[in-house]
Amino acid sequence: MRILVTGGAGYIGSITTHRLLEAGHDVVVVDSLIRGHRDAVDRRATFVEGEIGDPSVMARVLPGCDAVMHLAGLIEVAESQSEPGRYFDANVAQPARMLDAMVDHGVRAIVFSSTAAVYGEPSSVPISEDAPTHPVNVYGATKLMFERLLDWYRAAHDLRSIRLRYFNVAGALPDGSLGEAHDPETHIIPRLLTSFAAGTTRFEVFGDDYPTPDGTCVRDYIHVCDLAEAHLLSLEEMGRGGEGGVYNLGNERGFSNLEVIGVCAEVAGTGVDVVRGPRRAGDPAVLVASSGKARRELGWTPKHTDLRGIVADAWRWHSR
Ligand SMILES: NC(=O)c1ccc[n+]([C@@H]2O[C@H](COP(=O)([O-])OP(=O)(O)OC[C@H]3O[C@@H](n4cnc5c(N)ncnc54)[C@H](O)[C@@H]3O)[C@@H](O)[C@H]2O)c1
Repeated sequence: MRILVTGGAGYIGSITTHRLLEAGHDVVVVDSLIRGHRDAVDRRATFVEGEIGDPSVMARVLPGCDAVMHLAGLIEVAESQSEPGRYFDANVAQPARMLDAMVDHGVRAIVFSSTAAVYGEPSSVPISEDAPTHPVNVYGATKLMFERLLDWYRAAHDLRSIRLRYFNVAGALPDGSLGEAHDPETHIIPRLLTSFAAGTTRFEVFGDDYPTPDGTCVRDYIHVCDLAEAHLLSLEEMGRGGEGGVYNLGNERGFSNLEVIGVCAEVAGTGVDVVRGPRRAGDPAVLVASSGKARRELGWTPKHTDLRGIVADAWRWHSR
């Protein structure tokens, strides 16, 4: 199949592009490079620099495509709180124009990168797909708005979609050639490993008074390669004419921030001086996925379920 990957110069998009190419698909990447890296785009893919909301860019890349994998967007929670209009434009308005272009060019299947942030503070864990969605930040709200928009495009234009709600994504290609390089970086594993690689061992943990066993937040980590696999399976499901739907992607196991810090220090072979700071606004105490639906309906079986292995792959990338 010929696939348009939006955001294919970013962390997850570049690794998903790699996986699609390995599986024999033809890939076109569109990325504005506002946060991505040209070098991260696999040379076998066609690369077009541009914005997804620009109809002239879409007219160049969509003809001949069978489906879109939509990963482009802005992803920083704190930034979304201070610049809501910018997040609405990047995560809702521009993607809506892209959907119109898809309809115009006869492309009626999309796999969308959504997030656990659509759930907000969950009333119970593990979180299943039918849990209430009450996002507590602008980022999560914009992702949910776009999910809803996809329902309306299904009704109006028969555009089918799979929305993948990722939990905490981490890790890198096992050969260390592609990995996470956000700027700014707010995710705990890359922040820790970048500090360790630079010889810094002091690390501040945001909040130690949550209702969790050690008082720090608990998160569910999924390896980026397992995520890329889920995209491939979603594409195959769409290819079979599947109706689409919503799927949580996580390992169904939570690790506290202190546990993550311990594993990262062990993998990097360093000591760590943990400083206990205040809570960060908008951080739920526990986010753990129930991913049974993806396993049952997409045939997804995550292979990298060991946190130490996930961190070891990330460390290979960060220490290069
Ligand atoms: N990283 C995570 O843990 C995580 C968790 C849940 C969901 N997600 C979602 O996964 C997707 C990818 O995340 P990531 O970590 O790879 O982020 P990333 O910032 O590395 O990649 C996003 C890419 O989108 C590009 N982009 C942004 N706006 C664009 C536009 N208007 N037109 C074209 N390109 C544009 C950026 O340049 C960047 O390369 C995002 O949609 C994000 O919301 C990520």
